Amino acid sequence: MRILLTGGLGFIGSAVIRRLISETEHEVLNLDKVTYAGTHTSVQSVSDSNRYHFSKVDIVDGPAVTDAFASFRPDAVMHLAAESHVDRSIDGPGEFVQSNIVGTYEMLQAARSYALEADIMDRFRFLHISTDEVFGALSPESPPFDESTPYDPRSPYSASKAASDHLVRAWHETFGLPTLITNCSNNYGPFQFPEKLIPLMILKSAAHQELPVYGKGDNIRDWLFVDDHAGALLRVLEEGKPGETYAIGGNSERTNLEVVQQLCDLVDTQLGDNGARQELISFVADRPGHDLRYAINASKIKDELGWEPSHSFAEGLAKTASWYLENEWWWRPLLTERYEGERLGVTT
Ligand code: NAD
Ligand code: DAU
Repeated sequence: MRILLTGGLGFIGSAVIRRLISETEHEVLNLDKVTYAGTHTSVQSVSDSNRYHFSKVDIVDGPAVTDAFASFRPDAVMHLAAESHVDRSIDGPGEFVQSNIVGTYEMLQAARSYALEADIMDRFRFLHISTDEVFGALSPESPPFDESTPYDPRSPYSASKAASDHLVRAWHETFGLPTLITNCSNNYGPFQFPEKLIPLMILKSAAHQELPVYGKGDNIRDWLFVDDHAGALLRVLEEGKPGETYAIGGNSERTNLEVVQQLCDLVDTQLGDNGARQELISFVADRPGHDLRYAINASKIKDELGWEPSHSFAEGLAKTASWYLENEWWWRPLLTERYEGERLGVTT
């Protein structure tokens, strides 16, 4: 297949590209705006391949997106480009409305015109990568989210992703575009920008800095190793049914405090310095509108497409901690030039 992938310089998109180039015969065009979250170093292990192509495009720019379709002539789209950090959506929601809603609209319009003109509407695929945050917040007793859970987004980020999911579904129902949607839980692993909980805590704890846990640390997330998510996305693209939604999760619910404590112990062990890093944990002001719990029932993708995660949380977390401790070349420039680890997303 010729796959037009958006957001391939980010965390999950780069994992998908590394997998597409190293483990399949597919050809990829990566469209990315190169925001603060995107870096070419995340795909440098495969970027010499003649099956990898890059074009610097803001997906909000409709004519540029249309040109990319016309020149690359894809069989499929994997749409990951988005503003992705909840705390930044509190500080500046406008970018989220632009990239996540308007950008998805431009992608859908260009895909529809292209597939019609190329007369490939039946075999074309548009995979939209979304999040479990569109479903809102669970109480500790509620059953996990699944494909039938009503939408109830509560942050500017999740509202913008929910809006984009609705557009994708509308383009399927109204225009017959063969779309698929995935709603995945929290990812972690190598090459994640160090604003997110797990990389931030690894790097701060390694540097003996205070570890800011929001509220009481009792919020719960369902963690999935990023390479497992990449595998699920390829499975949905190749075998999923157009018009369907697939919920993807890691069967690994943990409180934030448990995650941070486990990371402290891993960093202590891996650096071998008896750092007593749990003592660095500090409870700070909560995130406004902080969703209490996310969890996914991933039985549909398991039963229908035969996918399930292959990493346990303990394995994935140990791999992730050692990757950050061994790959300063990747994260140091980001901390120096783009984000120094300061608190984001506090309203006054
Ligand atoms: P990320 O922030 O690491 O990367 C986003 C990428 O998109 C960056 O390379 C950025 O340059 C690019 N981008 C942003 N706006 C763009 C625009 N207007 N035009 C072109 N490129 C643009 O994000 P991520 O964590 O890799 O998430 C990727 C996708 O997966 C997002 O759609 C996100 O909502 C979804 N998702 C993320 C998670 C998670 O835990 N990280 C979980 C479920 C779903
Ligand atoms: O559920 C999927 C979503 O997971 C994705 O759609 C988002 O793109 C992704 O960013 C992630 O959202 P979260 O808000 O859950 O991730 P984050 O890493 O920002 O925070 C995880 C939890 O940790 C959350 O409850 C807030 C808390 N936290 C976060 C940071 C950065 C802290 O306690 N301290 C921190 O410094």
